[in-house]
Amino acid sequence: MSKTAILEFEGKRYEFPVIEGTEKELAIDIKTLRGTTGMITIDPGYKNTGSCESAITFLDGEKGILRYRGYSIEDLAKDADFLEVAYLLIFGELPSKEELTKFHNDIKHESHVDEEMKKILDGFPKSAHPMGVLSSLTSALVAFNPSSVDVSSEEAMYNSIVRILAKFPVLVAWTMRKKKGLPLDYGDDSLGYVENIHKMMFKRPNKEYTKDKIVIDALDKLLILHADHEQNCSTSTVRIVGSSHAGLFVSLSAGVSALWGPLHGGANQAVLEMLEAIDADGGDTKKYMAKAKDKNDPFRLMGFGHRVYKNFDPRAKIIKKSADEVLGRLGIDDPILDIAKGLEKEALEDKYFVDRKLYPNVDFYSGIIYRALGIPTDMFTVMFALGRLPGWIAQWREMRLKGEPIGRPRQVYIGENLRKFKPVNKR
Ligand code: CMC
Repeated sequence: MSKTAILEFEGKRYEFPVIEGTEKELAIDIKTLRGTTGMITIDPGYKNTGSCESAITFLDGEKGILRYRGYSIEDLAKDADFLEVAYLLIFGELPSKEELTKFHNDIKHESHVDEEMKKILDGFPKSAHPMGVLSSLTSALVAFNPSSVDVSSEEAMYNSIVRILAKFPVLVAWTMRKKKGLPLDYGDDSLGYVENIHKMMFKRPNKEYTKDKIVIDALDKLLILHADHEQNCSTSTVRIVGSSHAGLFVSLSAGVSALWGPLHGGANQAVLEMLEAIDADGGDTKKYMAKAKDKNDPFRLMGFGHRVYKNFDPRAKIIKKSADEVLGRLGIDDPILDIAKGLEKEALEDKYFVDRKLYPNVDFYSGIIYRALGIPTDMFTVMFALGRLPGWIAQWREMRLKGEPIGRPRQVYIGENLRKFKPVNKR
């Protein structure tokens, strides 16, 4: 039997359908609310607002569950590779061997970035934050690939998708190499998708590139863990920009900007900087715990807390284990890892954190692995963007295929009522 919710206001009763997701989540469908009642809802930060119905990612913040297209994040991180996961997220099913080969070949075919793009990159100072550079370059790609704006057919959409999956990693590599003063190279079509990204980032001009399986596997896993997270800030940004029928590349560029903030993807950089500051300050974790709890101190324990997870972030569990393995296998003894573990232990036993259900999130340990892999701290959020790319694309594609309306929230106006204009000499 279909469920309904009743709203009573000023003696009138209004009925709204309740929709149920495949995991039994309930939502009151208020599409007709304003038309029938003249009212809107208000929900700053959209804490109670579903912006869409989506078949891509399921997460249960209470139980600490994350699944892409029905597959658990634990299974995917263990057994899949990043390109397979990208295909799964975007097209809905795990690819057959042939489908995956074709997908990869189509990406390889598009892996050239116009040389003129190097001039744009050259215009940035070396000190520019890589996220600002990446967002600008992603947007600038449109000028060199004008046909990518046309996404009126599924085929045109597919072409834009493989293009950006091919070119975005080149932009990521160039952004890092420019900062390091290294020549801007292209990839190597004979390599796997992630291995090629690694080579593009780290190949020295005067040295043969050698594959390090531990490093490639760790990178692959990190990218998978970041690949999608339903309607978070950057994904909602991508969807809302795309809802105006702006093209894929500019929608993604907006997503990169949204991800940059320290409350979102920028937290991985902020975590490492925080751990380094604690280390430089003598490693006194208790002092920083006290700062995090002090309401007069703006300091927050970066890498802790999550809008949706009110139990362990399942990604953090996998990453913590991976950090131990990667550092162990690479023979790195990093004092930062001990500080992180100390902070986590204290926070998990502290009433402030327990009461507020604040647990380590995906960003708490990821930076430690990135650092071990030789990735500079200000590139961490760029690595998050690289991982999130398939998720953004999948969400954008789903929105376009469903023909969702332009995103346009309403507001409750609380400003002045009509006032009479006074010319400047009379004010
Ligand atoms: N350190 C200290 N106190 C915290 C923290 C923290 N990291 N996070 C939340 N709180 C407190 C907050 O002060 C508030 O306390 P009170 O109820 O006394 O006012 C309470 O916990 C609820 O916090 P909130 O800010 O209302 O929660 P939110 O759901 O709006 O914010 C968050 C979620 C992730 C922005 C927040 O937990 C935070 O700022 N964390 C640190 C930044 C971070 O690690 N971000 C990465 C998120 S995961 C990666 C991603 O998906 O982008």
